[in-house]
Amino acid sequence: MNSIPTILAIESSCDDTSAAVIRGKIILSNIVANQDIHAIYGGIVPELASRAHQQNIIPVVDAAIKKAKISKKDISAIAYTNGPGLLGSLLVGSSFAKSFALALNIPLISVNHMKGHILSHFIDDDKKSPTFPFLCLTVSGGHTQIVKVDNPNKMSVIGTTLDDAAGEAFDKSAKLLGLSYPGGPLIDKYAKNGNIHAFEFGKPKVKGLDFSFSGLKTSILYKIQNNVQKNPDFIKENFKDLCASIQFSIISILLDKIRMAIKETGINELAIAGGVSANSFLRSEFTKLSTEKGLNLYIPKFEYCTDNAAMIAIAGYYKFLEKDFVKQNETASASLTF
Ligand code: KG4
Ligand code: ZN
Repeated sequence: MNSIPTILAIESSCDDTSAAVIRGKIILSNIVANQDIHAIYGGIVPELASRAHQQNIIPVVDAAIKKAKISKKDISAIAYTNGPGLLGSLLVGSSFAKSFALALNIPLISVNHMKGHILSHFIDDDKKSPTFPFLCLTVSGGHTQIVKVDNPNKMSVIGTTLDDAAGEAFDKSAKLLGLSYPGGPLIDKYAKNGNIHAFEFGKPKVKGLDFSFSGLKTSILYKIQNNVQKNPDFIKENFKDLCASIQFSIISILLDKIRMAIKETGINELAIAGGVSANSFLRSEFTKLSTEKGLNLYIPKFEYCTDNAAMIAIAGYYKFLEKDFVKQNETASASLTF
């Protein structure tokens, strides 16, 4: 076996089927198949997601291997997402990974999806990586966490959402505005020409470093309902301002807690990760914050923000170095924690 490991990684926790090949810390391929089927339902339908994963997994893995210009015998280990996520979706990726590892007689590595998002900062792509310890705001459709990262294999959650995730707040608000799923990127797009102060929504009162977004969602719902009763064209006439104000409210909640976390921990290395870290307003506000506070800020490339197997591959690489392998009887978990 070559001393630099070549790892095939599989990610199938939600509605993207992805496979990647990494050699050392360098990504050779990262293929992602999205599932458009959910858009018409306004959210992910779990059963449809797992069926689509079953259809996509073989062509996606095949494409990743071909793009990486490797053959199966070059693969040192298989890494896969073991949770958290939708159980039916996780089972497709984990069953495939197990069978493949068994057939090739190579080690199997299970990866926590959220740790994968965080470790995407260590992919060797000419970008500077954070130094330890650092704080990572992990914001996706299912999670909103502030994580203290001591090393690639030691992380602790110091703040988390008590209800909805930030991505959910984006997607549910977008649905109220009549936008399709996932609405986060659409709000981002339409907010660009809107007034962030046009509308004010209720602010959560959660102590410490935890988050809450369900009150904001209700406040947005009532504001829209009340105004639509008076003027049926309210949404159409105020569309861009609504997008900008909603986005401002969600990002302000994240910013407030990050400011607090920096103060409490004294850590000045800050990273963002997860689907919502693709948001342009979040990126510019965090850049302003880092200048104001003299922080080192790490923003992932767009392709590594939303779900992808490259992040599972880099997390798998660190576990490979530790020989942290799992057996065939390892079970996927929808609610896997750190
Ligand atoms: O990390 P991810 O791809 O999947 C999960 O693990 O959940 O995150 C998906 C979430 C969705 O809620 C989506 O609306 C949100 O990330 N998202 C965005 C943007 N791009 C993706 N939210 C706001 N602005 C964006 N540009
Ligand atoms: Zn994710």
